[in-house]
Amino acid sequence: MTRWSERSVALSASSYDQRWKKLEESGHNIHGEADLIHSFRPQRVCDAGCGTGRVAIELSRRGVEVVGVDLDQEMLKEARDKAPQISWILADLVSYETDERFDLIALPGNVMIFLQPETEHKTINNLVKCLTEEGILLTGFQLSKTTLQLKQYDSDAKKSGLELAGRWATWGRDPFTGSDYVVSAHRLKKP
Ligand SMILES: C[S@@+](CC[C@H](N)C(=O)[O-])C[C@H]1O[C@@H](n2cnc3c(N)ncnc32)[C@H](O)[C@@H]1O
Repeated sequence: MTRWSERSVALSASSYDQRWKKLEESGHNIHGEADLIHSFRPQRVCDAGCGTGRVAIELSRRGVEVVGVDLDQEMLKEARDKAPQISWILADLVSYETDERFDLIALPGNVMIFLQPETEHKTINNLVKCLTEEGILLTGFQLSKTTLQLKQYDSDAKKSGLELAGRWATWGRDPFTGSDYVVSAHRLKKP
């Protein structure tokens, strides 16, 4: 049982997708994450904690080479059914290994706060190994008193050799002023 599946007992992979579909139908841009990721002009992206593939599929549609990684079989099956041409990998981000190097690794959709508690630093450390030298680690997550604290996240990133390259309150680059959602871009600190 993962933190994600514990919290989403009532939210199956298809109802997760339905929720996004409804938002789109009501006029919301459901590709804000893909827009920001795409603005970095990456060639190869890892959608880490890709779920049902919302972000990876949109990036692939825009011509970006993308790999989706998730540990939830049901979410991944939905992604695979929708876009069999994309590489979908069943793995835990804390131990995911690949010979590939990505220009950008993205964890949209609160993935950071669905990791098992106390594995956040290990996970960042592991993902950093999969970045190119100029690569970007991009995350977006809700801030609350009971989940991962921003100070802790920044400290974990620093310990993994990263420095902050951008911070916003939304995927549309609204300025971060201590709001309850944070989008962060980190890159490897130059020696
Ligand atoms: C809220 S969903 C977000 C899905 C997708 N990123 C999106 O924005 O639509 C969180 C996802 O993180 C995945 N996840 C949580 N912990 C994980 C881990 N340790 N390794 C891989 N995936 C993980 C869950 O399985 C779930 O699919």
